[in-house]
Amino acid sequence: MTRDEIIHLLSIDEAAALFGEADRVRRLHVGDAVHLRGLIEFSNACGRDCTYCGLRRSNGNVQRYRMSTDEIFDAAKAADGLGYKSLVLQSGENCQYPIKDMCALLRRIKGEMDIAITLSMGEKTREEYALLKQAGADRYLLRFETSSEELFAQLKPDSSFKERFQCLTWLREVGFQVGSGIMVGLPGQTVEMIADDILILEKLDLDMIGIGPFIANPETPLKNAVSGTLDLTLKVLAILRIMTKNAHIPATTAMGSIEKGGRERALKCGANVLMPNVTPTKYREHYQLYPNKICIKDQPGDCSLCIAGMVRSLGRTIATDAGHSLKVNI
Ligand code: SAM
Ligand code: SF4
Ligand code: FES
Repeated sequence: MTRDEIIHLLSIDEAAALFGEADRVRRLHVGDAVHLRGLIEFSNACGRDCTYCGLRRSNGNVQRYRMSTDEIFDAAKAADGLGYKSLVLQSGENCQYPIKDMCALLRRIKGEMDIAITLSMGEKTREEYALLKQAGADRYLLRFETSSEELFAQLKPDSSFKERFQCLTWLREVGFQVGSGIMVGLPGQTVEMIADDILILEKLDLDMIGIGPFIANPETPLKNAVSGTLDLTLKVLAILRIMTKNAHIPATTAMGSIEKGGRERALKCGANVLMPNVTPTKYREHYQLYPNKICIKDQPGDCSLCIAGMVRSLGRTIATDAGHSLKVNI
């Protein structure tokens, strides 16, 4: 698709045909099975000050936590017990776990469970990424958030646009399956910028693409901004499915939080992954990137049942394999 075609599709009111085509491409290239990635939000400590995020270091109203590596191991064990074939370990950036402790944890999980591990811990050095990969992590998620250098500078005032993209290159070089993505509906973001984001996501030839609506958080400098919409986010998802064919694309928590039924709609227009929360319930209320986040009061088992029902009601199945990249052998 050309930039103009993408801009046109992002601007149309009636997207049923686009969604139908994305669903057809999804079925053809990744099938009906939905991959479940158990999400462990292991620390809300963050050294960055992103203007959109509730975990930003200047937010003094957050009770910070760091799960011990034993607690993270136990949460992984719970995910394994629920039958999940892959895990996502997510945290704030620079949340100060010594790299050797993280590597020991990864070796322990991989030693005892047959489970794929995805990390989402922000920017690190090339050496740290290499150590995490060697210790057994399979995949890494690092969204570039927006391809507009100017907007990026406003949203992530203490990060560097070039370094974020450098990290994506390093992650690939050290052997990770790589995921990236954007937020949709950011203040100051135009459809032209989103079209550029989509073209860059296509060019990066990613194994995984994570997108979600921006949701204004009252605890941040963007408290008065207008949130993104599910409709525009789903159009971005559908276009990405059609363009990238077999990337793994989740129906994200933000899609389910901004509108009831958001994840179900995403699964019907291109998504093939869900991320049930397996964070111990006592920590969940402290990991609020944005308001009205779903599953805050639920137990891991509740989310498992909920997700199984959702998949079944859509006539889809739960994948029985780890859901590794489909791009590896291309
Ligand atoms: N700290 C790491 C990082 O920033 O890459 C990983 C965790 S961070 C919480 C994961 C993602 O949350 C970010 O990439 C961002 O897209 C999303 N996020 C943060 N605040 C958000 C908000 N207010 N609305 C929607 N998504 C948000
Ligand atoms: Fe920290 Fe990530 Fe939130 Fe930015 S988006 S404040 S790096 S947790
Ligand atoms: Fe957590 Fe529905 S996924 S309760």
